[in-house]
Amino acid sequence: MGRGTHLNREDLVELLRAGIPGPGGTWADLGSGEGAFTAALVELLGPSGQVVAVDRDRAALGRVPPPAMTLHADFTRPLELPPLDGVLMANSLHFVRRKEPVLALVHGYLKPSGRLLVVEYDVDRGNPWVPHPFSFETWKRLAVENGFGEPRLIGRHPSQWLKGLYSAVSTRQ
Ligand SMILES: C[S@@+](CC[C@H](N)C(=O)[O-])C[C@H]1O[C@@H](n2cnc3c(N)ncnc32)[C@H](O)[C@@H]1O
Repeated sequence: MGRGTHLNREDLVELLRAGIPGPGGTWADLGSGEGAFTAALVELLGPSGQVVAVDRDRAALGRVPPPAMTLHADFTRPLELPPLDGVLMANSLHFVRRKEPVLALVHGYLKPSGRLLVVEYDVDRGNPWVPHPFSFETWKRLAVENGFGEPRLIGRHPSQWLKGLYSAVSTRQ
């Protein structure tokens, strides 16, 4: 998370809520960190849902709260995951300069009509902490070019950094 962007539990849940079709389903949170959004996802999916938190930082992964499962891995490489109803990437795709190969992998993990939810800063120029962000306008193009339906904006959260966060959902085509 960029400095100066405080999100409480309710903020986290509200950024995701309109992107979740209902209770249940199997999701992965790629670049989960310590699992702040993972926990929000677990809450929204309810007891019949399953969430796998994926991160290359083992220490962060160790703090992900149960019942989420964890997978220590690099999401730029193929992952062993069950067929997914949804993928969340919150503040993690902006670490990747060339996003197309990662989006192709994500496309492959999702069931038909599975969802991709992103939370990102609404800018196209980064800084050392957020190296390769993409605005909602850019995301609309990028998602469609990579086999997803046009993203729908589902939330915003103000920040003193980088024009604030947006959340958007799109469906695997
Ligand atoms: C800014 S944190 C965001 C954490 C959480 N999603 C959130 O929004 O609070 C970015 C996380 O993505 C992880 N990450 C970045 N690139 C990754 C990669 N290629 N594979 C796995 N994890 C990665 C980092 O280790 C870090 O935990």
